[in-house]
Amino acid sequence: MSEFKRTTVTAALIYANGPIHIGHLAGCYLPADIYVRFLRLQNKDVIFVSGTDEHGVPITIKAQKEGKTPQEVVDYYYKEIKQSFEEFGISFDIYGRTSDPVHHKLSQEFFLKLYQEGKFIEEVTEQFYDEEAGQFLADRYIVGECPSCHQPGAYGDQCEKCGTTLSPNELINPKSTLSGSAPSLRPTKNWFLPLDQWQPELEKYVASHPEWKSNVSGQVKSWLNDGLKPRAMTRDLTWGVPVPIEGNEGKVLYVWFDAPIGYISMTSQLRPDWEKYWKDKDSRIVHFIGKDNIVFHCLIFPAMCMAHGDYQLADQVPANEFMNLEGDKISTSRNWAVWLHEYLKEFPGKQDVLRYALTASSPETKDADFTWADFQTKNNSELVAILGNFVNRAFVLLDKNFESKVPTKLEDSPLEIELKKSLSEIPDKLAAALEGYKFRDALVYAMEVARLGNKYLAEAEPWKLMKENPEKAGHVLNYAIQLVSHVSIALEPFLPFTTQKLRNSLGIAKADWALLGDFESIPVGTSLKNPGLLFEKLEDDVIQKQVEKLQQSKQQMLLQSKQPNPIKDTVDFESFAKMDIRIGQVIAAEKMEKSKKLLKLTVDDGLRQRTILSGIAEHFDVDQVVGRKVTFLANLAPRKMMGLESEGMILMAEGQDGKLSFIEPDSSIWNGASVS
Ligand code: 2FM
Ligand code: ZN
Repeated sequence: MSEFKRTTVTAALIYANGPIHIGHLAGCYLPADIYVRFLRLQNKDVIFVSGTDEHGVPITIKAQKEGKTPQEVVDYYYKEIKQSFEEFGISFDIYGRTSDPVHHKLSQEFFLKLYQEGKFIEEVTEQFYDEEAGQFLADRYIVGECPSCHQPGAYGDQCEKCGTTLSPNELINPKSTLSGSAPSLRPTKNWFLPLDQWQPELEKYVASHPEWKSNVSGQVKSWLNDGLKPRAMTRDLTWGVPVPIEGNEGKVLYVWFDAPIGYISMTSQLRPDWEKYWKDKDSRIVHFIGKDNIVFHCLIFPAMCMAHGDYQLADQVPANEFMNLEGDKISTSRNWAVWLHEYLKEFPGKQDVLRYALTASSPETKDADFTWADFQTKNNSELVAILGNFVNRAFVLLDKNFESKVPTKLEDSPLEIELKKSLSEIPDKLAAALEGYKFRDALVYAMEVARLGNKYLAEAEPWKLMKENPEKAGHVLNYAIQLVSHVSIALEPFLPFTTQKLRNSLGIAKADWALLGDFESIPVGTSLKNPGLLFEKLEDDVIQKQVEKLQQSKQQMLLQSKQPNPIKDTVDFESFAKMDIRIGQVIAAEKMEKSKKLLKLTVDDGLRQRTILSGIAEHFDVDQVVGRKVTFLANLAPRKMMGLESEGMILMAEGQDGKLSFIEPDSSIWNGASVS
């Protein structure tokens, strides 16, 4: 790291079409924040840049779904996302947006330079066009029957039922989602970046970084092995950065062309000397992303930068795998997520607990799983029992016995010699883990400081010493307080809120990595202020509430995932009017011998009692139906079943899990009332 003078850290520009969830945090924002905080602790020159990606089809789809303009959608989510990150302590130096005019200008200049230098291939291709809507259609705007599983409503890029990757022309009976009409193919000109031509140079670039994480280099090598193909850098869409070539209205830059340039345009808004962070050879660029962004950051953006010539390539792309939730993939559409803005509301002041739990099971090498039970354990058995307990014991003893002032030290005993030795091993291990993007390991090393503190107090027993040797007790508490200061340094990148509290208590203005291991850093006689309990135990009912909330999402999804049957052929009014549908009441019910399915119901229809055989025996017990009001078809031709005549049909609806449900009127409806 030493040859670099400064570090430019970026975290993926998330689409401004939805709120942040724990998958985003664990995937990229938390590790990036930890890394940046670690560099700042060492007074390194670092900038931390991120913002929202406000172009692209994901935005327009959301706008279409919500009946809003794309601008309204991105304005709303930019604000919400920015605020959630701030409250969660993600310490960006700038959080920008790609709809900013500064960004539009820089990405247009970038594009124009490549265009003028002949770095693009102009190509006319046939694209789907919606005549009624008067526009070309992105893949997601075309739906049709999946050629593979024949599910209707598959998208032009993927069938969500069977997962097959598709292109729009493979769909059977394609339709535009804008107008519902069948799209036609129209020729259109676009500009392609010949990634195939850049392949040899990209291979060299990738080979020069054998230190990249194996999940990153694995994906990159597989793309290279398949052979790169030219990729369109412009699209026939209306929402995005307009293509800066005259006569090309209705075309915008490909969202993955302009988005990564966003890192640069945002830096240019951060500081006047921004160029050195991107152009100087002694600047080191690190992109934190999730695994779905690897190809764009490791191949496409580097190819763009190679073609441009002015910008440095990333030195590291520490992409994480995915964080699952309670054994299932996080999904926005299924509302299977822990949303950050909700967490912040429901767990006020507990940002560090989530930061801790997510980092401790960070998906660094493979997908990981977040569970509320684990969250509770991490809080109760680690944050409360180890960290909180140590700090609390040190401060309580100091308050009680030394008027909250740092006592004098005596000669070191073997206990302190051992403590110092154990602590001296931590900074290097911790730094190596953080420099190697191993945040899970790093957290274990940082927590080791608090563990050492507990061990030291347990062995030195200052509470016992108070009676026989108060000076010795003071000596031990001096050590304990110095250790608290070390805790406040080692854990700063991970638990910024807690360590800020500790700094306030200890009177430390700014955390400084160099003081980790310095047992003189809090001077004798300093008046300290007890921070109070740092963490509180999370009871089962709090956790249960969250689990239930998720279960409700699942129920909701089950209901929504039911596909209504297609509408049957039209009937004329006369045919409909022939049906005599009425309300009745079940006054007796009995199981039918030899039939698993049928119940024999006696129904009071207001005129008489009639027998109806109903196929509901697998759904209801006899005593669950007696007394119920039911809706039934009264003039269905009688039918003989199992030796009995059924006079009508009870109308039922199929609910979730295929469970049947009666169509029940209000209790005020009388037996015999007609339904029309
Ligand atoms: O996956 C996403 O949410 C993209 N908007 C990430 C873009 S990262 C960068 F290149 F801007
Ligand atoms: Zn399919």
